[in-house]
Amino acid sequence: MMTAKEQSKPQPDEDFRMSQDDWLEAWNNGELLWHFDRVEPSLITHLDKLTSGSHYTTILVPLCGKSTDMHWLAEKGFFVVGIELSETAAQQFFVDHKLDYNMYITDRGIIYESYSKCFHIIVTDFFMFDKEVFGTFDCILDVNSFGTVNEEDRQRYANHCHSLLKSNGRVLLSTLTMDDNDIKSITTKKLKKICGTKFDVESLESLDVTEEMLQNFDKYRWKWKPCKVEKRIHLLTRTQ
Ligand SMILES: C[S@@+](CC[C@H](N)C(=O)[O-])C[C@H]1O[C@@H](n2cnc3c(N)ncnc32)[C@H](O)[C@@H]1O
Repeated sequence: MMTAKEQSKPQPDEDFRMSQDDWLEAWNNGELLWHFDRVEPSLITHLDKLTSGSHYTTILVPLCGKSTDMHWLAEKGFFVVGIELSETAAQQFFVDHKLDYNMYITDRGIIYESYSKCFHIIVTDFFMFDKEVFGTFDCILDVNSFGTVNEEDRQRYANHCHSLLKSNGRVLLSTLTMDDNDIKSITTKKLKKICGTKFDVESLESLDVTEEMLQNFDKYRWKWKPCKVEKRIHLLTRTQ
């Protein structure tokens, strides 16, 4: 039997598990659980590695929320497609960036399309999104999306990303490791175990982001206060 002290300590994963309904409810209640108003710094640093320096690049952003990164990429002229469960998040993205859009209800999800047609958010479950809609992509930008997926779905998520990429497609993957949550921590070793048969996994950098995460802890009132957090940046290249 657990002692009272053990019961009050966060159990592995319990405070981090989010169902699709939890995410939808949070967005609908105006609770921002995860959003940064700045562009992900590793995207700026490693953009050329992701795109191989090409401007004619299509970029998929799974589990995109209302990520500022998508706007930054679209402004650079890339063809960007975000996939997001919550229609509220998609609408907020277009309002925040003062972008005009068309909206189509289709059997593949609700499609929000910028007037320039270079930018789309598809409101659907990522696992339901397939290559029939836009074909395969050159790149995937994954900023804490892999880490958002519950542990039992990560292999399926990696396989699905693989199916949506061109044969030499690349993924810029930003994940977190936390010294007191092994399940949510995505290390290079874990990535190789899950993605290693289908992707070449290259570690690009590790950064201590404890300060930034603690500031967000106060802002978003996360249930679980991180101790030491590192951001791990990897480049995955499709090998088969
Ligand atoms: C950690 S947050 C946003 C991460 C985003 N990449 C960013 O940098 O801001 C994860 C997002 O994924 C969405 N989400 C969760 N499960 C999803 C799914 N199965 N399909 C599509 N979106 C999903 C949530 O609604 C939430 O907005």
